[in-house]
Amino acid sequence: RLLIIDFGSQVTQLIARRLRELNVYCEIHPYQKVTDAFLQEMAPRAIIFSGGPDSVMREGSPRPPQAAYDLGVPILGICYGQQVMMQDLGGRVEAGEHATAEFGRAYVTSTGVASGFVDGWFAGDSREQVWMSHGDHVSEIAPGFEVLGTSPGAPFAITADRARNFYAVQFHPEVHHTPNGARLYENFIRQAGFKGDWTMGAYREEAIAKIRAQVGDKQVICGLSGGVDSSVAAVLIHEAIGDQLTCVFVDHGLLRQGEADEVVAMFRDNYNIPLIHADEAELFLGELEGVSDPETKRKTIGRLFIDVFQKYASQIEGAEFLAQGTLYPDVIESVSFSGGPSVTIKSHHNVGGLPEKMGLKLVEPLRELFKDEVRALGRELGLPQSFIGRHPFPGPGLAIRCPGEITREKLDILRKADAVYIDQIRRHGLYDDIWQAFVAILPVRTVGVMGDGRTYDFACALRAVTSVDGMTADYYPFTHEFLGETATRIINEVKGINRVTYDITSKPPGTIEWE
Ligand code: XMP
Repeated sequence: RLLIIDFGSQVTQLIARRLRELNVYCEIHPYQKVTDAFLQEMAPRAIIFSGGPDSVMREGSPRPPQAAYDLGVPILGICYGQQVMMQDLGGRVEAGEHATAEFGRAYVTSTGVASGFVDGWFAGDSREQVWMSHGDHVSEIAPGFEVLGTSPGAPFAITADRARNFYAVQFHPEVHHTPNGARLYENFIRQAGFKGDWTMGAYREEAIAKIRAQVGDKQVICGLSGGVDSSVAAVLIHEAIGDQLTCVFVDHGLLRQGEADEVVAMFRDNYNIPLIHADEAELFLGELEGVSDPETKRKTIGRLFIDVFQKYASQIEGAEFLAQGTLYPDVIESVSFSGGPSVTIKSHHNVGGLPEKMGLKLVEPLRELFKDEVRALGRELGLPQSFIGRHPFPGPGLAIRCPGEITREKLDILRKADAVYIDQIRRHGLYDDIWQAFVAILPVRTVGVMGDGRTYDFACALRAVTSVDGMTADYYPFTHEFLGETATRIINEVKGINRVTYDITSKPPGTIEWE
């Protein structure tokens, strides 16, 4: 295992990302947690010091324990991590002045000193583009170190102590703007003797062992939404502890066509996972009657969800754990300089506050994974691709795709239109190119003519976006033919809709959902 000590950089997660891509298992831990005892226990085979916002010149600034240097394992220091390493080992760091601070693109030139650490670097014109972001800089390297690369603002851009296998760079090799950065990580892990053979299969085995150790013979409840994260978590936990797991699937009546049946069939019938199907559509739709404000909708659904979940969960005897599909990016276990690491859990799981309220402990077997790794684990566990590749679906469901008042009639029409639209996207082979696609039914009726008659039906909007994380998004550039064909199909096949529009707003300024 490789340990990344987090000193609070914004991009620490990217270091983990790069290492995972090289099939090396690593864990990020905030520096406050990394004590001598911690190092003893974890016994990492290599350590990386991340960057960070503090200045090593400041009294009391974050440090690794001395034991990190004494373990005899390779260490790589990045940016702040480099400065810490130099200062700790007898070099010097100077406070940034305007002339020496560097932010953004820079070029590092080779000094000609040979080292496996810079294999594959400095080809061609002997320089590499890197991303710098530092105020302070190293002014004197520690004894035993040599300079492998320099830049105008960082004379000690790449340094190495070959005897101890300590490496330190002033720039950020993990970011996109250091195009050849992955190569440095590859060289580093090779120096550290990693074979790069960590696989999802290995992760699965480790995760199962951990779940068993944590849970013992106690009962676990898992809220299943039908989304990828909770589904993978449920299947994994079931593999670990079998029928000690019970899933609760809250059906709020705001799901898509056929969705509830699919979820129940998949988990209860295919996987034999004990599943409570909480069919509470009446309750939710009743409480939502007359509600048109988007935030009131969300709050109402969130509140009912907790009540319902609690009601069903309390029927499960001896339950001590609540399973959640929390992912790595949801866990901000970064350095907080005001006091200790802070952990934030995905709030849109709609079970926020539940663990405390019910006195349950959390089981979160996906906490170390990124979204695409969760998908890979799902495939490893044999979940069908059609399930794994699903577009995200919001907790409040169709409620936020039905601007204005929610009625059963509108929901029925919306479900049918959405099914036709998604079918069109699949038929044209576009589903996997799109991050999220859906129909919103608009709270207006418009006049149309069908056959010889006048119609007065609802208008709807199609939405399809590309995105990486949902934070920003662009509309998907369908062809006019596709849009025309889809509009015709919806109007012909869905009674109640006589006008179809396509939403071409990006995010920002729009949001992906309509509410
Ligand atoms: P917006 O509309 O904010 O959506 O651009 C970004 C992503 O988040 C989803 N979303 C939600 N998910 N509860 C959820 O679980 C919510 O209240 C909620 N609102 C938006 C949305 O579907 C998109 O993937």
